[in-house]
Amino acid sequence: MIRDRVYDIVTDEIYLRLPGWVDKADIYLKIEGLNPAGSVKLKTAIALIEDAEISGVLSPGGRVVESSSGNLGIALSMVCSVKGYPFVCITDPNASARSVATMRALGARVVVVSERDANGGYLGTRIAHLKRMLAEDPTLTWTNQYANAANPRAHWERTAASILKAVERVDYLFVGAGTTGTLMGCAAYFREFSPRTRIIAVDTLGSVTFGHPAGPRHIPGLGTSRTPELCTPDLVDDVVLVDEADAVRACRGIAARYGLLVGGSTGSVVSAVRSRGAAMSGASVVALSPDLGDRYLDTVYNDDWVTARFGPEALTDRELAGTPLALGG
Ligand SMILES: Cc1ncc(COP(=O)(O)O)c(C=O)c1O
Repeated sequence: MIRDRVYDIVTDEIYLRLPGWVDKADIYLKIEGLNPAGSVKLKTAIALIEDAEISGVLSPGGRVVESSSGNLGIALSMVCSVKGYPFVCITDPNASARSVATMRALGARVVVVSERDANGGYLGTRIAHLKRMLAEDPTLTWTNQYANAANPRAHWERTAASILKAVERVDYLFVGAGTTGTLMGCAAYFREFSPRTRIIAVDTLGSVTFGHPAGPRHIPGLGTSRTPELCTPDLVDDVVLVDEADAVRACRGIAARYGLLVGGSTGSVVSAVRSRGAAMSGASVVALSPDLGDRYLDTVYNDDWVTARFGPEALTDRELAGTPLALGG
């Protein structure tokens, strides 16, 4: 496989079966973290930049600004580096030190806001900071992942289409919700091409995206403290809210049982799959894994970090740790 540009290395065809994660259902974990940006957001970043170029708001000499919890920032750093656009990422203390260092290594300027917004999160503060920057410098282009139709379109065209190509029958599709770009793009595609598929949104307890009360959150990726404009709840069949302690336990359970380190939001997604397991007997289930665990070694996989936030009960997945993997089961 020879590619001209680093962001042409998109891996949309890799799935890991999770035998035994729930009884009597086939679970296919779609691995999005094996591209050079390390997450599903590579496809979003390409689409946002190409859309800005096509619409004429971004051209050579232009500069790009975006708010990100880490993964889109890394992906935009990569795409902007190849295309020669200086890039500024506005992020917050929940972004891992590794993600911030990765963006800087790719040439981005990173601003870390530290004040919480009215809902106790950081998104409001990030957006307010970004808007101040835009007001001061009209040559900056905000790709606006929260409201830009190019975001879900990327997942309509690539993520969702690739799933139906790889897995003939999808009874349930579990997708985590941040900006909801991945979720809404997939939901719209499946409504059209596989209406039988039940679309399950996975969000974090404490996120306001689907109208639930705000609360503290520590793991980047899922959840918001301000409802994203892209969110169309009618397109999804069900929403599962996952406690971050359960997401941590599930991450550790996947590592113990299948030898794969997944990111925090994947922990939420597979925890949601397990919580719905009893109702999915005989079903074919696709669950999206937005990134892998290397960015979370200092958090989700660090015992001190986990114990300080969630207590020692969150350290092990009691249902699965130590259970032998029943291949073909
Ligand atoms: C690790 C991770 N999971 C899930 C998501 C949510 O994706 P989306 O913004 O498309 O809803 C993100 C978004 O940044 C992410 O970084």
